[in-house]
Amino acid sequence: MTVGLVVVGCGGHGREIVTIARAADEAAGRRLWRLLGVVDDRPSEENLKRLQRLDVPYLGGVAWLRDAPPEVHHVIGIGDPRVRRTVGRRIDGYATPAASLVHPDATIGPDARYGPGFVAFAGARVTTNVTMGRHVHLNQNSTVGHDSTLADYVSVNPLAAVSGECVLAEGVLIGTTAAVLQGLRVGRDSIVGAGACVVRDVPDEVVVKGVPAR
Ligand SMILES: CC(C)(COP(=O)(O)OP(=O)(O)OC[C@H]1O[C@@H](n2cnc3c(N)ncnc32)[C@H](O)[C@@H]1OP(=O)(O)O)[C@@H](O)C(=O)NCCC(=O)NCCS
Repeated sequence: MTVGLVVVGCGGHGREIVTIARAADEAAGRRLWRLLGVVDDRPSEENLKRLQRLDVPYLGGVAWLRDAPPEVHHVIGIGDPRVRRTVGRRIDGYATPAASLVHPDATIGPDARYGPGFVAFAGARVTTNVTMGRHVHLNQNSTVGHDSTLADYVSVNPLAAVSGECVLAEGVLIGTTAAVLQGLRVGRDSIVGAGACVVRDVPDEVVVKGVPAR
């Protein structure tokens, strides 16, 4: 069955997600997604041109989804977890369901679970007994180890490594190439800076950086 899809956000993250939908179609050898276009409340001229180069229509603001037919799915193409949550909560008030996209070059363990709006970019690796909530995004070449839990709106940026038995609370951002050692918890809305190594639990709503992360 082909599903109508709208990507929310025409910035770099959103346009990368457009390419994931296309890669999934190509790997399947059939059209899984009918990409209707992208919505964005404040697209820059430059991003609209980039979208045009991808041959993807710009449909208008996010409110376009409010009147979309109920079979049209959306995926939020916004990298910042908190902005993604704000937009996600707005769209929750509309009828449109969230789609989950997995790049064909990502590997997701057979017993891993994820909620609507999940996106796995190329090279993302998830092993066994991992639970991921709604609108979790695993960016390129990131890894999530066994028995970990990622709550809603978590982002794991490129090349970051989340070890086994970790808990990332809602809205956490793990920066590019950062590592979270096994069994640790990162608190709600906290940010782990690029390149950091987390060696102890991180409380809610803080930014930690460096090696070891402080
Ligand atoms: C850690 C982070 C959140 C800090 O952001 P910020 O508060 O805006 O920080 P600033 O850029 O104002 O820098 C503040 C200080 O922290 C330092 N700093 C910034 N990021 C750092 C990092 N990742 N590791 C170590 N030090 C860092 C800066 O050099 C600066 O130091 P100074 O005060 O001695 O000059 C951010 O730099 C970061 O790493 N974000 C993740 C980005 C990412 O993953 N991008 C990939 C997108 S796909």
